[in-house]
Amino acid sequence: MTTMTPGRPVGSARPVPARPLLRPGRRKAVLVAHVVAAGAWIGIDVMMAVLVGVGLGSDDLASRAAAFQAIGRFLAVPMLVVAIACLATGLVLGWGTRWGLLRFWWVTIKLVINAVLVALVGVALLPGMGEVREHGESLAATGAATGDMSFLVFPPAVSLLALLVATVLSVFKPWGRVRPPAGRGA
Ligand code: HEM
Repeated sequence: MTTMTPGRPVGSARPVPARPLLRPGRRKAVLVAHVVAAGAWIGIDVMMAVLVGVGLGSDDLASRAAAFQAIGRFLAVPMLVVAIACLATGLVLGWGTRWGLLRFWWVTIKLVINAVLVALVGVALLPGMGEVREHGESLAATGAATGDMSFLVFPPAVSLLALLVATVLSVFKPWGRVRPPAGRGA
C-alpha cells in the first residue's frame, strides 16, 4: 500500500502546484540519469585520486609518467560533462517535483555544491590539464619534472568530500524547508 506520492515531500500539503510537475515515469527516468551522473562523477573523482596517488607517490618513474599523462588527457572533460549532467538533471528534478529548487535546505545546498564544483572544474582544473600532461610527457621522455604537481591532491579531495556531503543530504534530506509553507505562520 502506498502512503505517499513519489516525489511529494511528506507534510507538503499544497493542493495546487504553481507549475506542472513531472509525470511519475518521467521523474523516475530523470532520477535514474541524475543518480547515474552523480555515481559516474564520484567514480571519476576516485580514479583521479588513485592516479594522483600513483603520480606523486610511486617509486616507478614510468608509472608516475603514465599517471600524469592520464590525468592531463582523460579526466577533466568527462568530469565536467558528468558534473553538468548531474546539475542539469538535478535542476529538472527540483523544478519538476514538489521538492522545488529553493524550497528545501537539502536541495538548495546541493544546488550550491554542484554549481561551485562545476565552476571549479571548468575554471580551475580544466585549464591546468595541459601542464599536467606535459609534466607526464617530460617524465616519460627525460625523467625531468616540469613543476610541482602536489596541488593535484586538492581537486579529488575537495570534490569527493563535497559529493559525499551531497549524497548524504540526498538520502537523509535533513533540515526541512527553507521557509515555512504559506499560511503556516512566519
Ligand atoms: C552535488 C551532486 C549531487 C549528488 C551527489 C546528488 C545525488 C542524489 C541522489 C543519490 C539522489 C537520490 C535520493 C533518493 O532517491 O533518495 C538525488 C535525488 C535528488 N536530487 Fe540530487 N544530487 C546532486 C545534485 C543535485 C542538484 C544540483 C539538485 C537540484 C538543483 C538535486 C536535486 C535532487 C532532487 C530534487 C532529488 C529527489 C528527486 C525525487 O525523488 O523526485 N540534486 N540526488
